[in-house]
Amino acid sequence: MSQPTLVSLAVQDGVGVITVNNPPVNALSAGVPEGIATCLATALADPAVQAIVLIGAGRSFIAGADIREFDKGRVTMPIGDGFIDKLDASPKPVIAAIHGYALGGGLETALGCNYRIALRSAKLGLPEVLIGLLPGAGGTQRLPRLIGPKAALDLITTGRHVPADEAKALGIVDEVVEADLLPAAIAFAHRVAAHRPLPQISANASKLAADPGLFDATRKAIARKARNQKAPYNCIAAVEAACTLPFAQGLAREAELFRELETSAESRALRYVFFAEREAAHVPGIPPNTKAPAVQSAAVVGAGTMGGGIAMCFADAAIPVKILEASQEALDRGMARIRANYETSVKRGSLAQDEMERRFARITPVLDYAALADADVAIEAIFEEMAPKQAVFRQLDAVMKPGALLLSNTSALNIDEIASVTQRPDVVAGAHFFSPANVMKLLEVVKGAATSAATMNAVMAMGRAIGKLSVGCGNCDGFLANRSRAPFGMEMVILLEEGALPQQIDKVMVEFGYPMGPVAVGDLAGLDIGWAARKRRAAADPNYRKQPISDRLCELGRFGQKTGAGWYRYEKGDRTPHPDPEVTAIIEQVSAEMGITRRAISDEEILHRLLFASINEACKILEEGIAYRASDVDVMWLHGFGFPRYRGGLMFWADQIGVKTVYEQIQRWHQLYGSRWAPSALLRQLAETGTAFKDAKAG
Ligand code: 3HC
Repeated sequence: MSQPTLVSLAVQDGVGVITVNNPPVNALSAGVPEGIATCLATALADPAVQAIVLIGAGRSFIAGADIREFDKGRVTMPIGDGFIDKLDASPKPVIAAIHGYALGGGLETALGCNYRIALRSAKLGLPEVLIGLLPGAGGTQRLPRLIGPKAALDLITTGRHVPADEAKALGIVDEVVEADLLPAAIAFAHRVAAHRPLPQISANASKLAADPGLFDATRKAIARKARNQKAPYNCIAAVEAACTLPFAQGLAREAELFRELETSAESRALRYVFFAEREAAHVPGIPPNTKAPAVQSAAVVGAGTMGGGIAMCFADAAIPVKILEASQEALDRGMARIRANYETSVKRGSLAQDEMERRFARITPVLDYAALADADVAIEAIFEEMAPKQAVFRQLDAVMKPGALLLSNTSALNIDEIASVTQRPDVVAGAHFFSPANVMKLLEVVKGAATSAATMNAVMAMGRAIGKLSVGCGNCDGFLANRSRAPFGMEMVILLEEGALPQQIDKVMVEFGYPMGPVAVGDLAGLDIGWAARKRRAAADPNYRKQPISDRLCELGRFGQKTGAGWYRYEKGDRTPHPDPEVTAIIEQVSAEMGITRRAISDEEILHRLLFASINEACKILEEGIAYRASDVDVMWLHGFGFPRYRGGLMFWADQIGVKTVYEQIQRWHQLYGSRWAPSALLRQLAETGTAFKDAKAG
């Protein structure tokens, strides 16, 4: 079989058209940069060619370096032996014709060209920072020369995708066209073929004057978000170099700063996450590329906080949605809450008033199940109790059209028990949204025993259609996300009993990279919900491990931020948690009542006890086949629980410590604390065989 041609040259009407054809996104994999350089040389040598167009075949221009090749050590700078410099030095005009995406090395390639023309639907950007890198193919030197350092810093430190029209306004592209990109690019080439001198970004320093405070101000502005990370700072340093050094020296500085990042733990973790998020889309048992019918209308049962948030997800994605409540009063309250949420976005400036009205108008309040009948999907979002949920599913089963998906937003209850009251358990699945549902990206899609592969596929696709990251898993108490997180929560209260204080735990976890400490998160979410759940569990299970400190706080009406006091004390109208001596006294008193001599607990012990407890549980979940792969655990922790992305996720982080080290520590705690630390069989097996968590196979 002949090798597909990655890059080809054809001459059309005096214009050399270089086409990159490396599906799916025309990444600059081995052979592509070399192919562009070869075709360029051929076009330059051909007297019939007056100008050159560089274009991508398929769905995109060029989406950047091939990220898989970083781990193979191939992508060193400058990628592909200076092919961008060759474009830059071309004596004949080169026009980049952009559709789909021009990202990273792709945009850097286009910046090496003399002109850029784009389809209106195209997106451009330098997203390297999102994978712990900086634009290392000249992007940090050319973009500031083209649009000035301030705008360049914005693009390079956020990694955001810029739509073609904005790119035109910024001066990144010269022309935006509606359709027929290649003919438009060829016509453009004819228009500029004779113009000299050729515009060459590398030779233009006129835009480089920067406000002297710009770079320090940018460092300050990103400090909180960029905590523990190097890439955002190296991006700034590289743009600063563009403003202070001649072009060639600036490129050398860029390469130096790039090399510091290429093999960093941060970049390896972020590259791993890039692929883990894509891998999560594949549910075992569903052949790849199986198309699911698109959800075009939705119904939500329950207009509480979760139900309202879920309805907003559909409305935001332009999908009409009905929302049902048992009484007019509850329905009015729910709709008022949805409206208030939208109004907050309008006040903050993140949503235009007319767009808000359009979205709100897509949500129809109803009181009658019959009104839901023709929706493609119904999602139950009432309180967490089995009998009322089953009652909802009986009603849905009675009215919903054949083929409709029947989903429950339960975060822990048994999907099979819910499905069992219907005549169509094959279309029943869990669709666990995280709070606030309209903001959090994770959708945990739970497969019951009877859930069909087609249903799983359809729910995963529905999640993607409403902008969620869908991750599938099996059915068990708490499913993958909450079950793997539960031991963390339990260990946290035990650490408090043994000697830690809320502020110490929060400090450790914030320094680790969480946006907020777990104890403060409890105050934000409200402690009464967990209290009610504990009472239910304690009533059902005589061996249930009580949490006396948490209970004592709730008995005192300390429910968190909403009551002005929880684990912390709050000033009126202020969400800043203040350590409270009253809480310290309660904690010390409970420790004394439990006969515990409090001790100083190190930060490392706190971090490891919290996270190792969950790693062990995640291994049990993998062992039982509830999780399909370790990377799914990671994706859930990143998007459901705020685990720092640049640490790759719970299991990736554990791999950096080493399976054996984690196992041996868990064994020591097992001996010290007993059964709650019993190591999972899978963990033992991985430690004994020296297998990384990321290579662990689900049971
Ligand atoms: N390298 C390798 N594979 C890539 C890739 C890349 N740069 N970009 C996308 N892919 C793969 C994906 O893994 C996926 O593979 P799969 O089908 O086997 O799961 C496939 O292409 C399609 O990707 P998506 O599912 O993400 O498709 P979307 O249409 O949703 O998104 C995209 C397309 C916006 C281009 C998105 O894939 C993306 O953001 N890609 C990464 C862009 C990027 O970060 N570029 C910078 C790279 S680093 C660089 O250029 C360094 C330079 O400065 C030296």
